[in-house]
Amino acid sequence: MFSKRFETYARPNRLSRLLSRFKEEGKPVIDLTESNPTRCRFHYPSGLLHAFSTRKNFIYAPDPRGSSGARKAVLAYYRRTGVLLRPEQVFLTASSSEAYHFLFRLLADPNDHILMPSPGYPLMEHLSRLNDIQVDFFKLEYEGEGWKIDFDSLEKGIHSRTRAIVIIHPNNPTGSYAGVEEQNRLISLAKKHHLPIISDEVFFDYVYPGTDILPRSFSFNSRSLTFTLSGLSKMACLPQMKASWLVITGPVNQVRESMRRLELIADAYLSVNTPVQNALPDILKQRDFIQRQVMGRVLKNRGCLIRRLEKLKSCRLLKGEGGWYAVVRLPRIMSDEAWALRFLEKEGVLVYPGHFFDFQIESCLVLSLLPPEPQFIRGVSKIVQRISKELGDLL
Ligand SMILES: Cc1ncc(COP(=O)(O)O)c(C=O)c1O
Repeated sequence: MFSKRFETYARPNRLSRLLSRFKEEGKPVIDLTESNPTRCRFHYPSGLLHAFSTRKNFIYAPDPRGSSGARKAVLAYYRRTGVLLRPEQVFLTASSSEAYHFLFRLLADPNDHILMPSPGYPLMEHLSRLNDIQVDFFKLEYEGEGWKIDFDSLEKGIHSRTRAIVIIHPNNPTGSYAGVEEQNRLISLAKKHHLPIISDEVFFDYVYPGTDILPRSFSFNSRSLTFTLSGLSKMACLPQMKASWLVITGPVNQVRESMRRLELIADAYLSVNTPVQNALPDILKQRDFIQRQVMGRVLKNRGCLIRRLEKLKSCRLLKGEGGWYAVVRLPRIMSDEAWALRFLEKEGVLVYPGHFFDFQIESCLVLSLLPPEPQFIRGVSKIVQRISKELGDLL
């Protein structure tokens, strides 16, 4: 009765089974994976809702690319970073996941492949599978001073069925941006192999102050076909509003042909609701209000993590340059899964084991930096105590 797409789906893992048990038994959990900003006690500008109370919302005037007012607001966002676009180069979608779906439909036939970074964002594999395409990975290597694209693995990963290179800028969860040199190299490679780049820039605005990098959006690229994705879910912390976009840049003929085809795909769904399109200019104008709070929280929580981990010589926060996550390397006395199970079972603290994100480095954990500070501090303190205890028991 059902398609074969779901046959390879993983069963609940040990951590999710333990978490379900905790929930059934009503045991409290300090959730350090929480990254839904609407549950993390941020204040939203009260004026934001006014943008939704307009009689214009009673009028349905569908446009497959999204309303011109909303697209112009997106242009203004890129103009600020020095990228000048025309409104036709922007397509609104209901989410960044939907933007991926449209692009996979545009670029790939069943069983074609796309190349993605590893470690990386696990939803991508799921989305690819739902779109009947296969995923190959190129590596991000952690060197002393941060994460670098392993161009050998990238070039080796390209073959006759590769249809696109995905870059997450900054990457989730490593928080690493592609530096200017890496960007240029990636673009040259994509051009050489006639492959489009899909640059997921949903976390782009959350660069940590004091990092050496001045990130540059891939939307500047006119040398090869490039699709740049972003949206309200991270930029304005409004995932429930369901508005994202993709912008197309590159050689004129390829951009024109992509626009023509994408218009057919988007016209089949017309999925972005009218109220959010009408409100988008106001929402984007007010994004600093929430972004400042998020950056404040992320930096405080990172600072707390660094200070607490200092007490443990064998633990380290890996260097990141932006985004909402932290990657922590733990002593290799047990696997990442075993550590995560131990933290939940003994301390009631939930964290992600690194293998969820395909970390090759052993015993890495991933934490969200969004939880309110008191909750974050309590969770991290318990983790640090547990690590000391496990190390002490070993001696
Ligand atoms: C890197 C990355 N891209 C895309 C998405 C999906 O965003 P959206 O809510 O707009 O679909 C996420 C969600 O966490 C993400 O981490």
